[in-house]
Amino acid sequence: MIKPIPVVLDVDTGIDDALAILYALYSPRLEVLGITTCFGNGDIQTTTRNTLAIVELSGITVPVYKGAADPLVGAWSPQAEAFHGRNGLGEALVPEPRLRPQDQGASQYLIDVINARPGEVTLVTVARLTNLAIALKSDPHLASKIRQVVVMGGAAFVGGNVTPVSEANIWGDPDAAWVVFHSGVPLTMVGLDVTMQANISDQQVRGLDASRPYSTVVQTALEFYLRAYNPEAPFGQRRAPLHDPLAVAVAEDATLCTTEMWPVDIEREGTITRGMTVVDQRGWITASPNAAVCRTVDAPRFLSEFCLRLGFPFSPE
Ligand code: RIB
Ligand code: CA
Repeated sequence: MIKPIPVVLDVDTGIDDALAILYALYSPRLEVLGITTCFGNGDIQTTTRNTLAIVELSGITVPVYKGAADPLVGAWSPQAEAFHGRNGLGEALVPEPRLRPQDQGASQYLIDVINARPGEVTLVTVARLTNLAIALKSDPHLASKIRQVVVMGGAAFVGGNVTPVSEANIWGDPDAAWVVFHSGVPLTMVGLDVTMQANISDQQVRGLDASRPYSTVVQTALEFYLRAYNPEAPFGQRRAPLHDPLAVAVAEDATLCTTEMWPVDIEREGTITRGMTVVDQRGWITASPNAAVCRTVDAPRFLSEFCLRLGFPFSPE
């Protein structure tokens, strides 16, 4: 029997976050210790409520810890409604959850759970890095006790998705990302380089197993997500990226992606490059490599497992 990998998920639920939560909770290889929430795809009330609702729909019990409402500098403002809807779940009617967040806040939970199991816990962050940055700043010894952080974020060798060069999770709190990328913690960066290769299709969304407890919410949310990513394309030709589930999958099975070690820095102030993950390809900055950057993904292998686990039909293309 293989020992499960203890993980904490940090989310801003969010349509693809909802799928990442389900993928992690139903994993045979991960032990989800807790879920922390952050602002991002909605305000913190919305992302926390959505997280609790999805956990409740999953039928699996896991504690949820409410986190940051704003980035380290400045204030949150809506940016993701076009892709995630005003309620963060594509306007799907989400039952009001009976579950409540824990009394403890997200950053303190991260400090406690990591210190309780030094060297064991993997963090999978699929949101702004604010909660982790606050934890790292509060406990200077924390970074050395984290097994690894798998970050859905950044765009190493491809363009961005909120600006020409910046990806949403880094752009949404570049100061927090800077803290994490400079902390010395072992990092795997699951950026747009690979997540844009892992897409779900109309046919898969339409074929979701109706007996799953989350099927109505997830199907409605994904129809919104497919429309948002493909405003011009007709039904049958639409595809949308599974950013956050891929990060969970990489935490579960690192062989899904090829990686290269690179020095990655975060642009915090640029007028048109704020939030960029800057890869020092020619060694101009003397920093040593700080991140395993995912370069390629075995998308069919990921998708077949994703579909099987969550109840979507899959046929190889
Ligand atoms: O850029 C993709 C990321 O931004 C995903 O985590 C998505 O949920 C949004 O937060
Ligand atoms: Ca997310």
